[in-house]
Amino acid sequence: MNILLTGGAGYIGSHVVFSLLDNGHKVTVIDNLSTGHKKILPKKINFFDCNINEKYKIKEILQSSNFDILMHFAGFIKVEESVSNPKKYFENNTDNAISLFETCLENNLNNIIFSSTAAVYGNPKENKPISENELLKPLNPYGESKMRTENYLLKNKKKINSIILRYFNVAGADNQLRTGLLSDAATHLIKIISEVAVGKRKKICIYGNDYTTTDGTAIRDYIHVSDLADIHVKTSEYLLQNRESNIFNCGYGRGYSVLDVINKANNITNGKIKFEISNRRPGDAEKLVSDVEKINKHLKWKPKYNNLKTIIHSSINWEKKIYEENL
Ligand code: UFG
Repeated sequence: MNILLTGGAGYIGSHVVFSLLDNGHKVTVIDNLSTGHKKILPKKINFFDCNINEKYKIKEILQSSNFDILMHFAGFIKVEESVSNPKKYFENNTDNAISLFETCLENNLNNIIFSSTAAVYGNPKENKPISENELLKPLNPYGESKMRTENYLLKNKKKINSIILRYFNVAGADNQLRTGLLSDAATHLIKIISEVAVGKRKKICIYGNDYTTTDGTAIRDYIHVSDLADIHVKTSEYLLQNRESNIFNCGYGRGYSVLDVINKANNITNGKIKFEISNRRPGDAEKLVSDVEKINKHLKWKPKYNNLKTIIHSSINWEKKIYEENL
């Protein structure tokens, strides 16, 4: 397959680049490097430093090769930032994404895999895994910006074959440490724990222990980034075979609380992860766990790294590497 990726120099995008190359596919990356890092990308790909709303440049790229699929990763992903600066999220994650899709359509590329998020679900009332049919009620502009882009794709089903992938909590790093999460201002739980593990931070704050969960801390479904990358490869095959739109949740279907994750990290690091309790973070949901029946049925996908310890371990190993090698 010949794949065009936006945001390929980012965390998830770069893992997908490696998975696609590992599976013998051809890869072209578009990234404006606002949050991505070119240094984590392999030399074997075509790279364009370009914004997703630069219609003319994108048109030239599209006309330079016969792409089978667009994978659209480029986007802002910080819940807290989206609450303080919603405009940034609606402009980039919605308006610019739609402009990109329209440029693709105008140039005969109508197979799209879109990176969406479990944040579109908000805080579902029922205490059970969330299925793709759940009513969407995002709690923050980040989730709302992704939902609006989903709506565009769904409204244009006749013209666009799209697979919407709703990611739950993505964490960990490539097991060969070819890439991983690079961030100057980390906000994600397992990333911050890894920074504490290598001594880059003294402690982690738990955002709220007054949720109605067993230990009072919020629950998430953590999926290893390499399994998520594998899902993208399988989804591409599925999309080209079926040429029809669909939506899949991407998670393992099992929830862990913030304290579960810290305890597991403390087992790995012999108690290095010091923590304190602070207030809830605005825009946070109490519990997000994926119903995985649909993705398992359609993609016949089997996770390889479905283990919280493996996820945390790979994340800490990557953190050590970037700390020691000053990446
Ligand atoms: N948390 C802390 N302390 C921290 C960081 C996080 O207690 O320093 C808690 C959060 O409050 C939350 C949990 O750890 O309860 C996970 O937080 P993350 O920031 O790691 O992830 P989020 O659940 O907020 O969001 C992530 C992605 C979204 C995606 C969502 C889906 O950033 O894109 O998972 O579940 F939508």
